[in-house]
Amino acid sequence: MTTKLIIALDLPTAEQALKFIKPLNPTMCKLKVGFELFVAAGPGFVRNLVDDGYDVFLDLKFHDIPNTVASACSSAADLGVWMMNVHASGSSKMMSMAKQALDETGKDIKLIAVTVLTSMDDEQLELVNINVSAQEQVKHLAKLTKNASLDGVVCSAQEARMLRELMGDDFLLVTPGIRPSGTVTGDQSRVMTPLEAKKAGVSYIVVGRPITQSDTPLQVIEAINRDMS
Ligand code: C5P
Repeated sequence: MTTKLIIALDLPTAEQALKFIKPLNPTMCKLKVGFELFVAAGPGFVRNLVDDGYDVFLDLKFHDIPNTVASACSSAADLGVWMMNVHASGSSKMMSMAKQALDETGKDIKLIAVTVLTSMDDEQLELVNINVSAQEQVKHLAKLTKNASLDGVVCSAQEARMLRELMGDDFLLVTPGIRPSGTVTGDQSRVMTPLEAKKAGVSYIVVGRPITQSDTPLQVIEAINRDMS
């Protein structure tokens, strides 16, 4: 069985990221490269991870006019990544064009959409004038995502059960905001443990700081993989 754990490599330099992944291997985890590391380490670093055999989730959450996002997806496809993402709130047209651009590469790359960031709760949404609950907004954006033929969404594990029922078994549910029991929540609002997330039907969990800032990352990884298997 392939691992359902995606580690968020949110580290400031290529050196620190390489030091962190030294004791790891691609059977233990997939790797997510987001803004912090991508800006610091660049596309070459992503290619190296791919060459080392890792499934890489390029988490750049593209959100721009459809043509720009589609072109960015084509460029990202050249890196050989396993999965990438866009913001569902960027529109159905933006998502469809991104999907089409990836299809045209002929590569099997997963494209998912961010619904509502897991750091946002109902109160935060109201502050940006979205006056429906996070759950309603997630449901709405997930439907747009599926209609645009994307592979799935990034969502909170707290919405996973509802989305699994609504979207069917093939729709990917990728969930950050995961906190093994006893670890610090930090800036995440809608959190769940790995075991709860698995029971809720998630496809992959994204875990960053509970692993990257742990004194014993290998033990945390092992415990999470045990819970998820
Ligand atoms: O350290 P932590 O486990 O909170 O890391 C979660 C990761 O998932 C971060 O890289 C964050 O950017 C990402 N993410 C998120 N919420 C989303 C989409 C991505 O937390 N909705």
